[in-house]
Amino acid sequence: MSEINQSLIHAALGALGASEHPEIQAEPILEVSGFSVRYGKVEALHEARVRVGAGQIVTVIGPNGAGKSTLLNGLMGALPPSGDAAGAVCYLGERIEDLGIEARVARGMCLVPEKRELFSSMSVEDNLQLGAYARKQRGERNYLSELDTVFQLFPRLKERRRQAAGTLSGGERQMLAVGRALMGQPKLLMLDEPSLGLAPLIVKEIMHIIHRLRLTGVATLLIEQNARAALQVADYGYVLETGELALEGPAKELGLNPRVIDTYLGLAKKQPQ
Ligand SMILES: Nc1ncnc2c1ncn2[C@@H]1O[C@H](COP(=O)(O)OP(=O)(O)OP(=O)(O)O)[C@@H](O)[C@H]1O
Ligand SMILES: [Mg+2]
Repeated sequence: MSEINQSLIHAALGALGASEHPEIQAEPILEVSGFSVRYGKVEALHEARVRVGAGQIVTVIGPNGAGKSTLLNGLMGALPPSGDAAGAVCYLGERIEDLGIEARVARGMCLVPEKRELFSSMSVEDNLQLGAYARKQRGERNYLSELDTVFQLFPRLKERRRQAAGTLSGGERQMLAVGRALMGQPKLLMLDEPSLGLAPLIVKEIMHIIHRLRLTGVATLLIEQNARAALQVADYGYVLETGELALEGPAKELGLNPRVIDTYLGLAKKQPQ
């Protein structure tokens, strides 16, 4: 579980399209309860509860301003100074609310924020190497060990490894952001709206890659406005509305829920992706 296993990647690449992987079930990686976040007097998140099991993809869907990024930033310990979090965050069996962001990163949490925060003038490969910076700082000799894995997952990044990140398309930039995260060997990958601003075909490709990631053993918490895409790829889902969890369930069941269909899946059709 602690490392991305290349042979699993090979197996995953061969098994694309297979939808169930019962071998990857699920002791908890992350268990969050009563998690609230305030910005000054405004409560943006009220007593949220989220569970992510080993190897699972769990999604939180919800409209603009629902509190999705607040949830991820809060879990990462990366709220702005005005943000104040309360509640229990248990990660790999340890309460981590009092830990700073570096300590959370060191334990294998990784957030890919909505703004992908790449270094445009640096090459693709240099951006990837930055993702391994914490491992290098820890004195890991083999800190670039995931480079091959990332290039297997994203052959296009390999083709463009010497190109400046700023010359990539939107989809490739998202791939680079995820690839950079993987360079740190995360155990829990938290993705904030990876589909944002991408064309439907590219969204499909990104979701396909997220699906493949599960087979590497990385657990993923996927935040999305694009409910259709997220529920297709996730095992379990939560619906967040104005700071409160409104619904939850296995992703397939949520996708059949009339309220989800009316409010989110109908809307997703009309949204430019
Ligand atoms: N730094 C901040 N200071 C004050 N209020 C904030 C801050 N960041 C977010 N908020 C408020 O908290 C609420 C939740 O915002 P958040 O960004 O978490 O929503 P979101 O679900 O990620 O939305 P989107 O889909 O647009 O990214 C919103 O009402 C927002 O205005
Ligand atoms: Mg957001």
